[in-house]
Amino acid sequence: MYRFLLLLLFFGATEGLFAQGKYKIQKELVAEKAMVVSAHPLASEAGRDILKKGGNAVDAMVAVHFALAVVYPKAGNIGGGGFMVYRDKNGNASTLDFREKAPLTASRNMYLDKNGNAIDSLSRNGHLAVGVPGSVAGMFEAHKKYGKLPWSVLLEPAVKLAENGFEITAQEANALNYNQKNFARINQHENAFVKKTAWKSGQKLMQKELAEVMRRIQQNGQDGFYKGKTAELIVDDMKRGGGIISMQDLEKYQAKWRNPIVFEYKKNYKVITMPPPSSGGVVLAILMQMVEDQPLEQMGFHSPAAVHLMAEAERRAYADRAEHLGDSDFYPVPIEAMLDKAYAKLRMRDYNEKKATPSKQIKAGKPIKTSEQTTHYSIVDADGNAVSVTTTLNGNYGSSVVVKGAGIILNNEMDDFSAKPGSPNMFGLLGAEANAIQPEKRMLSSMTPTILEKDGKLFMVVGTPGGATIITSVFQVIMNVIEFRLPLQDAVQKTRFHHQWLPDQIYHEKNCFDAATAKKLAEMGHSLKERSSIGQVEAILVRPDGKLEGAADRRGDDSAAGY
Ligand code: DON
Repeated sequence: MYRFLLLLLFFGATEGLFAQGKYKIQKELVAEKAMVVSAHPLASEAGRDILKKGGNAVDAMVAVHFALAVVYPKAGNIGGGGFMVYRDKNGNASTLDFREKAPLTASRNMYLDKNGNAIDSLSRNGHLAVGVPGSVAGMFEAHKKYGKLPWSVLLEPAVKLAENGFEITAQEANALNYNQKNFARINQHENAFVKKTAWKSGQKLMQKELAEVMRRIQQNGQDGFYKGKTAELIVDDMKRGGGIISMQDLEKYQAKWRNPIVFEYKKNYKVITMPPPSSGGVVLAILMQMVEDQPLEQMGFHSPAAVHLMAEAERRAYADRAEHLGDSDFYPVPIEAMLDKAYAKLRMRDYNEKKATPSKQIKAGKPIKTSEQTTHYSIVDADGNAVSVTTTLNGNYGSSVVVKGAGIILNNEMDDFSAKPGSPNMFGLLGAEANAIQPEKRMLSSMTPTILEKDGKLFMVVGTPGGATIITSVFQVIMNVIEFRLPLQDAVQKTRFHHQWLPDQIYHEKNCFDAATAKKLAEMGHSLKERSSIGQVEAILVRPDGKLEGAADRRGDDSAAGY
């Protein structure tokens, strides 16, 4: 408790330092009734206002999603896709897949040169890298099923922000400046993101064309994006830039309801998370079940024993990911077998608690059926309905394609397919047949929007961006709360580490391990490598007194809003 108060003081006192422009960045918040935590304060506030007006969690989701597409253009989007995990106040759970898919004329070897080598730039930048966007269809579908307030009301905050502009934060200014060359090279027309002088924090970003698109979506729903003028502008831009998305691709796009991955952890926790085409849920389940019987709490947070155990679990689970996971509508992913507790145990049978197992000795298991940019937001409404959404353009600003006349930034999600077995994607992830390119197939994701129950009641809503590191970040934040008993703020703000099988390395954030721990891990045979920050977690915890505790990651402009 004392520690919690201290943290409150610390974040309270430094809030002024985070304040940018006219809005306040709120890292920590306790709310009586409802809460939104997202990557941008203006988006969190848009969601909170909808909740205050009597909107439910799904209404708030729509408002937050469209607002993020304006105020957080590097990852918030209408030109990308994502996943929603939903749990209503009675405990009924569902998931919605609005992941991008491969265009109809996509083909297995489309990113290979004459000699069969992958040309990375083709799947990462420009028009050929774009998957058919899913976000607008996802929002529309979720609202159709669960929404309470009128659709048009939910779009209004985003329309206003795009039309009137808003002041950018220092982080957004840096990101825009970093991407200027890409924007200019890929788009020959003027657009909102390119200007002659460098972007500075506090300057206004106006997106008039995007505002018009948002108005069409506001008036015509899904058709405002996938048909008519917006669709024509997207297809024209594709033709100009050598892309392959057609009118038919856009018209055919549908979001899909899918059965959630649900598993128990230590009897009193239930985890509800995303199935394929995300690898997130399956890999999270394997990871949690691999460590379930181990005394993590006694080992202690970031102790050599705990880091070793978790990294060893991660290396094995990521080897499975590379081999077995892909879009289950196209490839027989052995989901049930991989979720079996016995399978996780089997995968850990060669685990040595004293020594790292080199990744070259680790192959994917054989489950046999016995019976960098993305963003996340977490929402709980006053009735206790919860939404966990992770959405993405893939890289920062996606493919850097800004649709002429529409101001929409399009994704570069095609890079999440395996262009060729053994050829890593931009996150160094490998894939095989399961994730090969096929027309209309959805590319494999790591996004892991997750909701946890404790003793049958809503307990936690969590998720993060971070490419390959998404699953390990979600895993670690959950373990921080459940096993290491950290307060939510600490669980989110503390440093993180990551192992993904290959390369055979524990990546970690700066100052993650003290010298003694690093030495001990090296002695066990681990190779440690410092890297840039890992993840940007948005989490909500339901406290025993029923109040909601929000934690917005310190690593970005992330902010909580509630009432
Ligand atoms: O779906 C995926 O797994 C990736 N496209 C996510 C990309 C990402 O998180 C980049 N953000 N940092």
